[in-house]
Amino acid sequence: MIKLTVNGEPREVDVAGDTPLLWVLRDSLGLTGTKYGCGMSLCGACTVHVDGAPTRACITPVESAAGKAVTTIEGVSPDRSHPVQRAWMEIDVPQCGYCQSGQIMSAIALLKQNPKPSDADIDAAMSGNICRCGTYPRIRKAIHRAAAIAAGLPRDTLSRATAFAQPAGTTGKEGG
Ligand code: FES
Ligand code: FES
Repeated sequence: MIKLTVNGEPREVDVAGDTPLLWVLRDSLGLTGTKYGCGMSLCGACTVHVDGAPTRACITPVESAAGKAVTTIEGVSPDRSHPVQRAWMEIDVPQCGYCQSGQIMSAIALLKQNPKPSDADIDAAMSGNICRCGTYPRIRKAIHRAAAIAAGLPRDTLSRATAFAQPAGTTGKEGG
């Protein structure tokens, strides 16, 4: 039995120690919000936090998370009230959605380390999270918005920022 804490709850799983954490989360614990993309640490779809650090669950043996705290997209907040979740909904970031739980987990980790990231900071921190739908401009916008929400700034702060990023008369979704 391997013991770990998942989204604040103590869990025990009866699997081989080298089982990828991703399969434990999805198959043993039913937490299917974390996605399988490449299985080779290349796409970021499987990003979770282990003791607060963004971690690729597809290449992480579950035994290395034993005794640690794992947070998945399901554990970010009980009611979608986390600033990153709120920003994601406001900006309507996802297209197909497949990569988005990994994107959100990486964005949360970034903002924890850097509450007011620049565009360059965001691009550097998020470069390992691939989106085949090309939602990168909205991801960047949403991270700025999440930083503003966390800092208690009004919504107008975003409107001014996006006025420059989004040509008039477009929805921001053109081209993906
Ligand atoms: S599925 Fe883990 S990085 Fe792609
Ligand atoms: S929203 Fe489709 S892969 Fe990112």
